[in-house]
Amino acid sequence: MTDRYAVIGNPIAHSKSPLIHAAFARATGQDLTYGRILGDLADFGGAVRRFLDSGGQGLNVTVPFKEQAWELADELSPRATIAGAVNTLTRLPDGRLRGDNTDGIGLVRDLGGNHGFVFPGRRLLLVGAGGAAKGLLEPLLETGIAELVIANRTTGRALALATLGETLRAEQGWEWGKVRGGGLDELEGDGFDLIINATSAGLDGALPELPEGCLAPGGWTYDLLYGDRVTAFCRWGQDQGAARVLDGLGMLVEQAAEAFWLWRAVRPDTAPVIAGLRDGTLGLPAAP
Ligand code: ATR
Repeated sequence: MTDRYAVIGNPIAHSKSPLIHAAFARATGQDLTYGRILGDLADFGGAVRRFLDSGGQGLNVTVPFKEQAWELADELSPRATIAGAVNTLTRLPDGRLRGDNTDGIGLVRDLGGNHGFVFPGRRLLLVGAGGAAKGLLEPLLETGIAELVIANRTTGRALALATLGETLRAEQGWEWGKVRGGGLDELEGDGFDLIINATSAGLDGALPELPEGCLAPGGWTYDLLYGDRVTAFCRWGQDQGAARVLDGLGMLVEQAAEAFWLWRAVRPDTAPVIAGLRDGTLGLPAAP
């Protein structure tokens, strides 16, 4: 029987996940369908239950339901527990729901696997301290980076996230990856090897205010956002002379591949799907 999956969010019409998972299924010969569900803002759990009751096997969860999915899950993976958000729900054989979060590993795989960024020993700046930034904390620290600075418009949120990061390091016994937090205005011209934009500023075409000189010579920039046009943060990266300027399209495909793996125990090849979205044969933008 054909297994059923879907992505749930609100809004959802723009989601590329159905395209991506259909491409994965074609390439790997998996017998599945993958749809999109417009979640009811007042009744997320009801929509999930209806999908499962009608034979659904798994769901991807997107804005604004990731925290609700975390609460709804009967059990959580360790990385989802830390992230406080779930983007992948899987129906277990006994009918219970398992929640996982594949966003952070998606970013690490895109940067490290697809683009060859070498994490160990590097100094990273994570801009933003909301849900998206929190999901990256553990996967980034795990890579062996030398230092993680979290900078946010609202200083208190950056400090709280940095404290969480330090707690994680202590629990794991990691000697690398010292975490500091602060306000955007506290950043000095401090050369980072990689600056990740995890703010939602770009949704309004805005830019977090970063001082000149915070990107090290040869440093890279990564925007979690992607779009039909070059994002505001990618333009900033270009203006700063970044050695590589990357947007979040690769992360989108990699987080989907990890979800596909969780559901099907098959790892799809992501390169042709990223290329297909980029060149429009699967329907998206030119590289920044
Ligand atoms: P998400 O789930 O996308 O992370 P969020 O939890 O609402 O959404 O967090 C949004 C993040 O983008 C926050 O770090 C926010 O900064 P504040 O904590 O100060 O609100 C950041 N952000 C949004 N618009 C911004 C802007 N114009 N400049 C700088 N940071 C911005």
